[in-house]
Amino acid sequence: MSGELVTIFGGSGFIGKTLVEHLAKAGYRVRVAVRRPNNALFLKPLGELGQVQLAQANVRNRASVEAAVKGADIVINLVSVLYESGSQTFEKLHVGAAGLIAEVSKASGVKKLIQISSIGADEESASKYARTKARGEKLVKENFPEATIMRLSVVFGPDDSFFNKFGAMAKSFIALPVVCGESKMQPVYVGDVADAILNVMTNDSAAGKLYEIGGPKVYTFKELLEFVNKVTEQNVQLISIPRPLAYFQAFFLGMLPNPIVTIDQLRLLEKDNIPTGEQPGLNELGVEATPVEAVVPNYLIHFRPAGQFKIAS
Ligand SMILES: NC(=O)c1ccc[n+]([C@@H]2O[C@H](COP(=O)([O-])OP(=O)(O)OC[C@H]3O[C@@H](n4cnc5c(N)ncnc54)[C@H](OP(=O)(O)O)[C@@H]3O)[C@@H](O)[C@H]2O)c1
Repeated sequence: MSGELVTIFGGSGFIGKTLVEHLAKAGYRVRVAVRRPNNALFLKPLGELGQVQLAQANVRNRASVEAAVKGADIVINLVSVLYESGSQTFEKLHVGAAGLIAEVSKASGVKKLIQISSIGADEESASKYARTKARGEKLVKENFPEATIMRLSVVFGPDDSFFNKFGAMAKSFIALPVVCGESKMQPVYVGDVADAILNVMTNDSAAGKLYEIGGPKVYTFKELLEFVNKVTEQNVQLISIPRPLAYFQAFFLGMLPNPIVTIDQLRLLEKDNIPTGEQPGLNELGVEATPVEAVVPNYLIHFRPAGQFKIAS
């Protein structure tokens, strides 16, 4: 039991939930800074009584960030959005908030700061998501030079938005349009990401470093869709469509409240999403990577025609 206090921004999201569970098991006191604590009550039973606290914070509000960071030994920033809506912009969340959390953490005497970012973060990228992720990283380093940056490839796990989205689409549609099918990805298991973060927290030599976190195997996007097709036993046709048509569709789909795809996401998909091999990753953090095939079939089973109740023939 370390007893150190860890503040997690974005702890109510997909990766946050697994991370909170791992940190609580490791004996940390966890303060999860969330916009709506009432919607994050599911986190409290992940620890012992009182071990996981919820604090109200909006990373666009300095006073709430200061209050959430006060007294913390370690701060982890997981806040991000996949598309912009209203005041939830890439600029405010990926750049402004990342810089603010780093600045406030330094001023409060926080010992370690971990900034979670994405593979593909690049100030020159065609994607605004990737550009703002890179600018956020830069601001974090300016305000808190010993911060550790962890760039992730696509993350999978029971509540992921990647495999579940395509599983649901395979179940609902007779054909799936595929664009950038040749782009490479190296999916990493959410439990491995949480272990990697935990190891960064306990390893002083991780200070100031950049890690690129990918899984054990590289796939093309099309191979992953074929895998979803196989696991869900849906015989969906995968139809490669020309890029201009995909962008045309995304232009309209991107206007929906919870868009299935946006133009910015297509720009991101144009590039491979795999570690460069020039930075340390899971291996260096002592985490053995879990294969996609060992986990994903278990939670995509309910997208099969007869769900989990298929009678063995
Ligand atoms: N999942 C992946 O495949 C993947 C891949 C590469 C990189 N990453 C990176 O990993 C990190 C975590 O990803 P995730 O998949 O766990 O994301 P997620 O499920 O979308 O969670 C994002 C979190 O940010 C919070 N948030 C959003 N706006 C906020 C605001 N204004 N103030 C405070 N909190 C706010 C959300 O809380 P609310 O409930 O309040 O909205 C949520 O808890 C991100 O940096 C992401 O870029 C993820």
